[in-house]
Amino acid sequence: MKTIIEPFRIKSVEPLRMTSVSEREALLKEANYNLFSLKSDDVLIDLLTDSGTSAMSTKQWAGIQMGDESYAGSPSFYRFEQALRELAPFKHIIPTHQGRAAEKILFSIVGQESDKLIIPNNTHFDTTRANIEATGSQALDLVKQEGLDPQVDLPFKGDMDLKRLRELLETQAEHVPLVMLTITNNSGGGQPVSMANIRETKALCDEFNKPLFLDACRFAENAYFIKQREAGYQDKTPKEIVQEIFSYADGMTMSAKKDALVNMGGWLALNDDNLAMKARNVLILTEGFPTYGGLSGRDLEAMAVGLEEIVEEDYLNYRISSTAYFGNALDKLGIPIVKPVGGHAVYIDARAMLPHIPPSEYPGQALAIEMYRLGGIRGCEIGTVMFGQQPDGSEKLAAMDLVRMAIPRRVYTQSHIDYCIECLEEVNANKDSLRGVNISWQPPMLRHFTCHFEPK
Ligand code: F0G
Repeated sequence: MKTIIEPFRIKSVEPLRMTSVSEREALLKEANYNLFSLKSDDVLIDLLTDSGTSAMSTKQWAGIQMGDESYAGSPSFYRFEQALRELAPFKHIIPTHQGRAAEKILFSIVGQESDKLIIPNNTHFDTTRANIEATGSQALDLVKQEGLDPQVDLPFKGDMDLKRLRELLETQAEHVPLVMLTITNNSGGGQPVSMANIRETKALCDEFNKPLFLDACRFAENAYFIKQREAGYQDKTPKEIVQEIFSYADGMTMSAKKDALVNMGGWLALNDDNLAMKARNVLILTEGFPTYGGLSGRDLEAMAVGLEEIVEEDYLNYRISSTAYFGNALDKLGIPIVKPVGGHAVYIDARAMLPHIPPSEYPGQALAIEMYRLGGIRGCEIGTVMFGQQPDGSEKLAAMDLVRMAIPRRVYTQSHIDYCIECLEEVNANKDSLRGVNISWQPPMLRHFTCHFEPK
């Protein structure tokens, strides 16, 4: 059967506020055409991010009631620690309020040396890159070449380019304190990394005596792709695959707002005693005591339950199939998307879809505005608006102009997705009438969050 059955039913509902096209036109104007400035009540289908937007289960809400708010030694911490060790048996588990806090701590303790350090990754997420650069170190992206081409349809476009990683380690090992791998590769279209590549990256790290850290925000989605696409994994459970993934790692940073199914949370986990001691010292300064990090006891309970639910096969099958259903429908309509469809989001190649809008007029933003105007759908430009602004104030075109439609976990049903497909079909039919935009005001950095646009 083709229909994707959500493996849950709905006990508690949140109403959506319906708005008309003319209302949305006024709201867009008021928001200076920046979708981050919209009130979320004015958004019908919010695909801005899959981060912190999951629906929690009845078991997670029950866990919230069990939260123990003791400052030190809370049983909620130990329940969380045990749930995580079941998947990733790291020696030291350090809770933080979200993923970037774990990154901040990790790079403030490894990036302190005076020499300029280099941290390689398949592709660093923005906050990871920013936390590395803030210490004066270099964040280096070494994803394999095919991972940079939106149209090539290959199973593991998130793989690390091992040849380039070897070259780096052979020539500059003394500047590389650790190697990272992001699973799935969010900035590269949500593409997974194969088990073979994780294993070989670890072997290379061992050869040069470097620890391997995973940025594991979407580890369960990555594991399910391995099950579907990599020989030898079809008969393994997602949990077994996750356990194997983490067996190759010396540490991880995590945003629990993704694959731990909670609205807030994260952690840093690692095996090295000395680094863990330093990390806990920074944690106490910036987040809190080591048995709560930046979280409440109830948050730790919700994460513990989320970690059990995220590796359920029925959930992952629904998750990966429903994202693919959305992407494949757009592909059939002739809308250019990043292929294959990733785990958490569908990315439209706006530069290819709107060739009459020059990249300097932000085709990704023009498309995102139109999707909201016509259908109340909020996606996110990932292109020249987000990456084009240079530190000296000049502008450089991004490699691609994409619009990401990230899908919150367990929140929308297939009919919501059908509505999005219908809306995009109409946008596509009238795409020649779309015009680019100007930026009429921008802050000195991170402009995409607050800048103002003007339609051409
Ligand atoms: N690493 C990856 C791969 C991410 O996707 C994110 C967040 C982070 C680290 C940082 O985690 O937000 O908890 O501090 N990604 C969100 C997104 C914001 O929309 O893709 P955080």
